[in-house]
Amino acid sequence: MKVFVGQPLVEPSTEELLAGFDVVIGAGNLPASERPLLADADALLPTPRERITADVLAAAPRARIVASHSVGVDHVDLAACRARGVLVTNTPDVLTDATADLAWTLLLAVARRLHEGEELARSGAWDGWKPRELLGVSLAGKTLGIYGFGRIGRAVARRAEAFGMKVAPFDQGGTEEDFEDFLSKVDVLSIHAPLTEETRGRFGKKEFLRMKKGAILVNTARGPLVDEKALATALRSEQLFGAGLDVFEREPKIEAALLDLPNLVVLPHLGSATVETRLAMARLACAEIVRFFRGEPPLNPVR
Ligand code: DGY
Repeated sequence: MKVFVGQPLVEPSTEELLAGFDVVIGAGNLPASERPLLADADALLPTPRERITADVLAAAPRARIVASHSVGVDHVDLAACRARGVLVTNTPDVLTDATADLAWTLLLAVARRLHEGEELARSGAWDGWKPRELLGVSLAGKTLGIYGFGRIGRAVARRAEAFGMKVAPFDQGGTEEDFEDFLSKVDVLSIHAPLTEETRGRFGKKEFLRMKKGAILVNTARGPLVDEKALATALRSEQLFGAGLDVFEREPKIEAALLDLPNLVVLPHLGSATVETRLAMARLACAEIVRFFRGEPPLNPVR
């Protein structure tokens, strides 16, 4: 049995986790030159960087399972998998805390202007304490809006108690009126919904104008939920106090209009990037493949 793994995972080696399988590891991003490696693959183990499109599936005619090393599965054409009878699994739960921690890392960094402060401190230009220097915003008593109240959204909400914030959840299923009401009452908006046709472009000019002036936006879910050009305008005009982004509309490209803004903190998609979490993700994705070929039911099937 052959497994194609999109790119090198953390140690212990994937060969060890997939003992007994013939493991072939790509360089990431699944370039056309790697397509021939799929021809006799029985299983695919992509990361969010390898798009599993209908074409890729056609190049992997023997593949019976796509075990994604991620909770998000927007890089997998689920309909094409269904049509071919290919099982899709993902890695929820094990990355919930790491991602919630990172959302808070961004939230605090934006609220306290970490990026600007660090730049000043390192520059050699800082000449001493000043009552007016780099003032941020306090969080206690403010409202943290959570768009997408699944596992990660709830974990972010649990951490809010420690900071004395009120939580306003919003989940799919609410009306447009509920959504507008939600937007207008939050001081910080943290996005935790998956990318679907309904959520694509959900936050743009209209939504930023509906939010309180001086609100903060954090996105650790998927970039295309946010219109980056509109966000750049909202940040430049100070309609928003600041934003923290871990994910981008056209990843790994980042909208040029954003990058020179001082009130933006950016990270390169690090939500689940802890040693413990990435190891748990690798173990889980490999376990799905082992279980599948043993005839055992999947732990996390994606329907
Ligand atoms: C996921 O799992 O979907 C993250 O974006 C990467 O860890």
